[in-house]
Amino acid sequence: MANLFRFILIAAISSLTLVACNFLFSNNPSPPNQSLNDSKPLPVVQNVDPKTTEPERIPDAPYLQTPNEAVVKMLEMAQVRSNDLVYDLGSGDGRIVIAAAQKFKAKAIGIEIDPELIRESAREEESAIAQTPDIRDRIKFVKQDLFKTDLRDATVITLYLLPQANLRVRSEILPKLKSGTRVVSYEYDFGDLPPNRIEKIKIDGQEHMIYLWIIS
Ligand SMILES: C[S@@+](CC[C@H](N)C(=O)[O-])C[C@H]1O[C@@H](n2cnc3c(N)ncnc32)[C@H](O)[C@@H]1O
Repeated sequence: MANLFRFILIAAISSLTLVACNFLFSNNPSPPNQSLNDSKPLPVVQNVDPKTTEPERIPDAPYLQTPNEAVVKMLEMAQVRSNDLVYDLGSGDGRIVIAAAQKFKAKAIGIEIDPELIRESAREEESAIAQTPDIRDRIKFVKQDLFKTDLRDATVITLYLLPQANLRVRSEILPKLKSGTRVVSYEYDFGDLPPNRIEKIKIDGQEHMIYLWIIS
C-alpha cells in the first residue's frame, strides 16, 4: 500500500514538472532586439543572390563616389567611435563602410540596391581585409532597398543620395531612428529640417556641403 502511494506521488510530481516546463518554454518571449557592442556579431541581414545583375527597381540616386577627403570629414563630423554601428544607405563601392571600420574602428554595414556594386564592394572589402585583417568581422554589405532596411540598431547613418530621396529618408526613416543617432549627408540636406552642423569642404577647387543631424 505504501509502495503504491509512493508510486502515485512520484507520477504526479513528474507530470506537474512536465506541464510546468511546457508552459514556461512555450511562453518564452522572443529575444529583444540586440544592441550592438564590440563582442556581438553584426546583425544578420539578407544578402545578395549571386545570379542577379539588375537592381530590383530604379535606384533613388545614381552611382557617384564621395571623395575620400569628404568621407573622412563625414565620419569625423559624426564622431564615429569603435562602439558605433554605421549604415551607409546606398553604399556604392563601399568606401564609407570600409573607412568607418579601418580608420574609425566602428562596425559598418553598406546597403546597396545594385548587385554589381555589391560585388564591387566585396572586392574592395577583400583588399581592405588584406591590409587590415581585424576589420573582417566589422564590415558587411547587403543588397537591399534602403527604404526596406531595419535601421533600429544604427548609431550613425551616412547618405549621398539626391534631394528627393533625402526627403523620403526624412519622412520614412528619420522617425524610426533611435534618439542620439547621427545622420550625415554629403551635398544634400533634408529640406527645411535644420541641421545640427554644416561644413563646407573644398575638393579640386570646388566647394561641397556636408550636413549633420542628431536625432532627438
Ligand atoms: C551617389 S551614390 C553614393 C555611393 C557611396 N555612398 C559613396 O558615398 O561613395 C548613391 C548610391 O545609392 C544607391 N541607391 C540608390 N537608391 C537606392 C536604394 N533605394 N536602396 C539602396 N541603394 C540605393 C545607388 O545604387 C548608388 O550606389
